[in-house]
Amino acid sequence: MPSRRRWLRSGGGCVPSQRVAVVGAAGFGGAVCAAIVQRHPALELTAVTARSDAGRRHDELYPIHRVGLTMEAFDADSLAERADAAMVAYPHRAAAPAVRALRERGLKVVDLSADFRLDRERYERWYQPHEAPELLPEAVYGLPEIGHREEIRGANLVAAPGCNPTAALLGLWPLREHLRDAVVDIKTGVSGAGREATDQTHYVSAADNVNAYKTEGHRHSAELEQELPDGVGITFVPHLIPVDQGLLATSYAITASDLTKDETLGLFHDAYEGEPFIDVVAEPPRTADVRGTNRARAYVTVTGDRVLVEVAIDNLWKGAAGQAVQDLNLMLGLPETEGLA
Ligand SMILES: NC(=O)c1ccc[n+]([C@@H]2O[C@H](COP(=O)([O-])OP(=O)(O)OC[C@H]3O[C@@H](n4cnc5c(N)ncnc54)[C@H](OP(=O)(O)O)[C@@H]3O)[C@@H](O)[C@H]2O)c1
Repeated sequence: MPSRRRWLRSGGGCVPSQRVAVVGAAGFGGAVCAAIVQRHPALELTAVTARSDAGRRHDELYPIHRVGLTMEAFDADSLAERADAAMVAYPHRAAAPAVRALRERGLKVVDLSADFRLDRERYERWYQPHEAPELLPEAVYGLPEIGHREEIRGANLVAAPGCNPTAALLGLWPLREHLRDAVVDIKTGVSGAGREATDQTHYVSAADNVNAYKTEGHRHSAELEQELPDGVGITFVPHLIPVDQGLLATSYAITASDLTKDETLGLFHDAYEGEPFIDVVAEPPRTADVRGTNRARAYVTVTGDRVLVEVAIDNLWKGAAGQAVQDLNLMLGLPETEGLA
């Protein structure tokens, strides 16, 4: 049975809710999507899906999120009867067929995976043959603050960026016209690797420890290469740190012109003035200060011949679910900050 829309109070009147399904809600990213949508004043969470946890209540698996729906197996026809939009939080490769099934049934989709972030050549160079290449032309890269806001508005398919690229790009974007080369050093919390524990992310391995990984090339660097001007040299080194949620991107950038500290600060203020989720701050930011929020805190200074930029985000919020809801708000014509303040 198609579910009827709830009527919600808004702006002194009543408006129909936008019904949203979260696909992959048992994973870390999908669970936060479900939690945000559940409390969103203009959205109605109508379904949450899971694979191994199908049949289980979401709030039994994640009491902290207080989502009282039972997770169900993915069925695109059933979801299409009950939702106008979907957020898909599967690993890359598994996401594309689910996104295709939902798009074929007319739902707007925000995908959290890498499947629709890159052009086909880059995707197939870093990942594998694409499972739904016919959808790539309609997919929009979902980082509003770096010039994609107008494309996201009204788009039917938005690819939420990776957590590492979100922080790195927010740090490098204001410098883009001057940028020659940057070393991007990422420190990321263990939830960035998803729910399943591995040899690297098991508590005993990750606690009291810091290590670099994928030093020979991390596929997230493809998003930087795609979104920054041609010819910018990028060295990208992620490190796993023993925190649950949180990500700090430190970029050491060389610019073509000798920018002063005031000039670099001016570029950041110009780029992010009026941005609801970005704070340009006077001290190096702490991941703890953005935990559980969709905010990014950005700091810039000049040291020797380098520009030093630090950006802190929560990988599951501005790096994943929060950003995906920000994108969904734009796609549905809602205020960008709705449900995320
Ligand atoms: N974690 C982050 O900080 C972060 C940030 C940005 C983007 N992302 C992206 O967001 C997506 C979800 O990440 P996550 O951290 O939430 O991952 P996760 O915790 O591992 O959750 C993934 C979910 O997808 C399900 N799944 C796995 N393979 C599947 C398949 N073949 N078919 C159907 N369902 C499948 C899993 O189900 P089971 O529980 O049954 O295995 C799990 O519930 C990924 O593409 C990731 O790259 C994550």
